[in-house]
Amino acid sequence: MAHTPVWFMRQAGRCLPEYRALRQKHGMLDIVRTPELAADVTMQPVRRLGVDAAILFSDIIVPLVGIGLDITLEAGTGPVVAEPFRSAGDLRRLRPLEPEADIPYVLETVRVLVKDLDVPLIGFAGGPFTLASYLIEGGPSKSHARTKALMYGQPGVWHAFVSALADIAAAALRAQVEAGAQAVQVFDSWAGQLSPADYAEYVLPASRRIFAGVASQGVPSVHFGVGTGQLLELLRDAGASVVGVDWRVPLDEARRRLGEGTALQGNLDPARCLATWEAVHDGVQDVLQRNGGRTGHVFNLGWGVLPETDPDVLARIVDLVHGA
Ligand code: CP3
Repeated sequence: MAHTPVWFMRQAGRCLPEYRALRQKHGMLDIVRTPELAADVTMQPVRRLGVDAAILFSDIIVPLVGIGLDITLEAGTGPVVAEPFRSAGDLRRLRPLEPEADIPYVLETVRVLVKDLDVPLIGFAGGPFTLASYLIEGGPSKSHARTKALMYGQPGVWHAFVSALADIAAAALRAQVEAGAQAVQVFDSWAGQLSPADYAEYVLPASRRIFAGVASQGVPSVHFGVGTGQLLELLRDAGASVVGVDWRVPLDEARRRLGEGTALQGNLDPARCLATWEAVHDGVQDVLQRNGGRTGHVFNLGWGVLPETDPDVLARIVDLVHGA
């Protein structure tokens, strides 16, 4: 590829009117469970924006729903867990994922997509800290206080818990790749809540289980979290071939820290997409300049597309990156 590849986290759904129209008629998880619809939503941004990759339309909670946990997605809020996890006894509810039996619709969506797409399909799963936080808090949380209380207070239970979540994520990723996905991303969105020492002790072993679980499949693997500037080396050490960088760390600084052997993904501030085109343009150029023309860069936002983003701005960003 002659130019820097570009795609956007959360490019499917959210800001696209064609997705919103579909959502008038179907629930989010109903779309995920209907391969024709999920495939269509996955393709919408590829058609409209001209991005270089598609990301499967699903959610990080889907494998957990697949093993029978009662989790719903509340519009605008996020996952809500009917019976949050609080003690060792809850571990029994985390049975291993059998992808073909538990999430057949996800794999069917991948199979439908890889026949039609002319860009690579990225599969994904939730990272250990983020999935644990949703299950323990019962929903979104700012402080992640209950999660950390279990982590610090019952480390044995915690390690068993995140290890089981890692195995579920690894099984989900392996199955997506076997069905045809050409890259994978682990979204440990809330891992930035932790210090390096705590991440290394309480999460890194589980993250390693995920990346080790897909290593033999030989596809690129991205490791992403928000506010993880203090953890970039550890995200790499988990075994990822690409580290996601949010907008808080300049790309050239991330490169200096991680070395030339690790590819970087990022890192335009998603809020910049709501500003004037001039401000967007300058932000894109700054990211590209900090990369300095190296090959190991996948252009992206530093976090997901904000719902209020004008899709035409995203399309212009794609053209700008391609023209650079
Ligand atoms: O490009 C894509 O958006 C691909 C599909 C995708 C979704 N969720 C669909 C979705 C992906 C990659 C995710 C990942 C995800 N889900 C993450 C990690 C990425 C990140 O943003 O940090 C997290 C933390 C979740 C959990 C989650 N699911 C939240 C917090 C929410 C509500 C907020 C929102 O609107 O995103 C969801 C629901 C959800 N997942 C929606 C979509 C399109 C909105 C559902 C709707 O249509 O009402």
